[in-house]
Amino acid sequence: MDKKRLNVKLVKMSYEYKEKLIDMLEEWKADIELNNTNHSPWAIFKNDYHDFDRYLEELEIREEKDGLVPDSTFFCLDTDRDRLVGAVNIRHYLNGNNYLTGGHIGEGIRPSERRKGYATAMIALALEECRKLGLNKVLMVCDANNIGSEKSIINNGGVFESEITQDGSREKRFWITINEEMVETERLVLRRLMPSDYKAMAAWDMDERVYKYLMGSACKTPEDPLVWLPKKDPNSRVNILMLVTEKSDGHAIGIYALNHDKSRDVWTLSYVNRFEDWGKGYTTEGMKALIDHAIKVYGARNFEGECAKVNTGSAAVMKKLGMVYDHDSLYSKSDGSETFESEVYILKK
Ligand SMILES: CC(C)(COP(=O)(O)OP(=O)(O)OC[C@H]1O[C@@H](n2cnc3c(N)ncnc32)[C@H](O)[C@@H]1OP(=O)(O)O)[C@@H](O)C(=O)NCCC(=O)NCCS
Repeated sequence: MDKKRLNVKLVKMSYEYKEKLIDMLEEWKADIELNNTNHSPWAIFKNDYHDFDRYLEELEIREEKDGLVPDSTFFCLDTDRDRLVGAVNIRHYLNGNNYLTGGHIGEGIRPSERRKGYATAMIALALEECRKLGLNKVLMVCDANNIGSEKSIINNGGVFESEITQDGSREKRFWITINEEMVETERLVLRRLMPSDYKAMAAWDMDERVYKYLMGSACKTPEDPLVWLPKKDPNSRVNILMLVTEKSDGHAIGIYALNHDKSRDVWTLSYVNRFEDWGKGYTTEGMKALIDHAIKVYGARNFEGECAKVNTGSAAVMKKLGMVYDHDSLYSKSDGSETFESEVYILKK
């Protein structure tokens, strides 16, 4: 079969496709039993289709419950052959259960239709659905030995990030970029921080001077950030973490971030820079652009920043950003080793 000429579309399950679904699932389940293969995507196997109303009702998760996030399930229809060939399940966001090994997309092609290019074509359509959901970066994870899955992910622009072992099985993680959220200034480029950036972060993360007034402490090894970094969703609309690089030579300067406290509708600023890049005006330049971006893209209005009174450089940045002193406060390092008298600055747009 000519892979380039597959005419496929994604459909939602309904009575119209009931017979086709049963035909596909019967074939698939027999193969799973015979060859002890996986149940991907799990959503289409989790309920018995004999009670078709319930199958339809419970196919998709609408609200987060028991650690499961809302999802969408589509079936892949070959329109030339009027045949269902596979299915794909899209998680709307990542949470504790799937940021490491689940990913956003789970897919499967029925046994008789494998190695014909369907998975590659179906993932391309699924990425369009991810775009509609507002996802910029899509995580796909496959078993390290699943060559077909790995290739169909790479065929769709998947970039290998890391291999991890979970519950005894080796899994490969890939990111597909639908849209790179970027902020540009005269000298800087800001883009979402990704797990693979831990290497660049070593330029400041192990430097005690940089961590003097920060709540966290300097890292002991360059790999330390891998404990928290993969748990950060680069699509988050409340925790905007940007890696900052210098345009002229591409070196990483630091991380600028805005974190939305929904209960108070306040966006908190934070920034960290490589020691060698202090005093060059980068933070003012980059944070100003990030604040403007958050206003435009996320509807941000209220901003807040806190710095130790002795950290005059940080206070100067906030003043240059147009922020005004609001009140005095106190904060402590996370390990309790030190407490600082601080100043809180605010900005209303
Ligand atoms: C993994 C799976 C989805 C691949 O579907 P598919 O329709 O066969 O994939 P494609 O035809 O698009 O193939 C993509 C590439 O992988 C290759 N490929 C597919 N299966 C392969 C296999 N078993 N061994 C070696 N190569 C394989 C194809 O030749 C193609 O290579 P190319 O890009 O160089 O042309 C399918 O095997 C499947 O449903 N498996 C069970 C469920 C599953 O494992 N899902 C993934 C969970 S992470």
